Amino acid sequence: MLKSTTIFLTLISLASSVSAGGFGGFSRGSSFNFGCGSSIKQKATHEQKDWCSSSGSFFTDYKGSPLCCSDHTRTPPSNGITCPFGWSQHFKAGCCIPPQEVSPCDCGEGYTYDKNTHKCVKNTGKCHGGQWWHDRSVTCCDDSWQHNPPKGDCPSGIKCPSGWFWHKNDKKCRPNGPRSPEPDCDDWDEHNHCCGGHTGPSQGPGKGNNGGNKWGWKRNDIQQQQTLSFPQTDLDKMYCPGSLHACTVPTAGGGEWAYECVDFATELEACGGCVGSGGQDCTQIPHSLAVGCEIGTCAVYTCKQGFQANGTSCVAV
Ligand SMILES: *[C@@H]1O[C@H](CO)[C@@H](O)[C@H](O)[C@H]1NC(C)=O
Repeated sequence: MLKSTTIFLTLISLASSVSAGGFGGFSRGSSFNFGCGSSIKQKATHEQKDWCSSSGSFFTDYKGSPLCCSDHTRTPPSNGITCPFGWSQHFKAGCCIPPQEVSPCDCGEGYTYDKNTHKCVKNTGKCHGGQWWHDRSVTCCDDSWQHNPPKGDCPSGIKCPSGWFWHKNDKKCRPNGPRSPEPDCDDWDEHNHCCGGHTGPSQGPGKGNNGGNKWGWKRNDIQQQQTLSFPQTDLDKMYCPGSLHACTVPTAGGGEWAYECVDFATELEACGGCVGSGGQDCTQIPHSLAVGCEIGTCAVYTCKQGFQANGTSCVAV
């Protein structure tokens, strides 16, 4: 399963600075690996190991200590705590924990993920009362837009992301409110703040999760995005070269730890993450003939007779 690593080698320093530096605006639509290395995992108490023994459980690094993410430790976020969409709150630590080891980290447009506290914190800016600061557009947005947006008709060929509207005076898409999700279209235009409006082909569907193959990216951008989307954990770095990730594989006798190194962005049998921890085995998609793993998402190209590929599945014709 080992894939070529050479094209990623030059990007290692970039990847590690990202995993240390936090989640900036460039991370839109990406998933991140929140697993932690063995040096942290081995600090887990027996109690923590018990909580984390079920399938799909994993440890994350919380201030240098292991924090178990499992059904035993997840509670819905309480009032006053803002977590990334789809995340839970840890029942003891009180911070946010991701649903899977490799997960998106979208706090909404008015918030930024704080890697130290593991919570979403409100962006600060110089806004008047009744407004909130929007980092992405470097503007103040009115609270009232949530109920009464100054909405105009989008010019043709242009759309706004889910949870956003076309502002008739600004002539740009603006988020309805501070918890509007990050732009979810494939063709988000960071300059004009809208989806589309380019001249050129647009990519197929896809919600932009796991990076997506955004329109207009040069080949090099895609490679960078792949590495940025799946930074190596301490454990990965210990066992695998380049930007590859260590996935545990079942051993005949059980018990013993065996692993292989995979590239989550392209590995067919561990696409987007290790199988059992958020990844998908693309070769197991029913009725498929040719499949691919594109930046961490399975793609179906052709299907067996009687079925047609719709991009992600084979559907009966
Ligand atoms: C493809 O088909 C599957 C199964 O019917 C469905 O869940 C999925 O949303 C479809 N995808 C697209 C892009 O239409």
